[in-house]
Amino acid sequence: MRTQIIENCAYYDHPVIADDRGSLIALEGGNILPFELARAYFIFGTSPEAQRGFHAHKVLHQWVVAVAGSCVLMVDNGRERKDVELNSPKIGLYAAPMIWKEMRDFSGDCVLLVLASAKYDEAEYIRNYDDFMDRVRAAANRP
Ligand code: TYD
Repeated sequence: MRTQIIENCAYYDHPVIADDRGSLIALEGGNILPFELARAYFIFGTSPEAQRGFHAHKVLHQWVVAVAGSCVLMVDNGRERKDVELNSPKIGLYAAPMIWKEMRDFSGDCVLLVLASAKYDEAEYIRNYDDFMDRVRAAANRP
């Protein structure tokens, strides 16, 4: 099931394959994920005070899963912003390009998996919020 958080950002229930040995979730590019998968990375060992993110991507699509523990992810499309708690491997948060993200309140055991549509490219990051808002406004004014 898809639940919209803000425009261009939603979370999805993962299909869980469960039996008496435990559970398995498979995420395929172009099937469950609305993009082809080029990269996976994960964040772990975060302190409770850590704040991460504070950027948006010009072209990257991402799928974010708390495979263990929990954290709060703030998502902002330049028109509205919302906090989402990620606390289950059964849920994936999809963010299209041009979503500003900030992460905080990591539990000690949090492992945050991010699946991404392209390889790492610092040139496609927007790390300044004013620049992000300038781009949102420019896109809104484009005919
Ligand atoms: P950073 O963007 O600060 O992480 P976060 O999104 O959690 O705030 O990235 C930390 C460092 O890791 C930075 O030097 C860039 C590097 N990095 C890679 O080399 N490859 C990657 O895929 C990612 C996501 C980051």
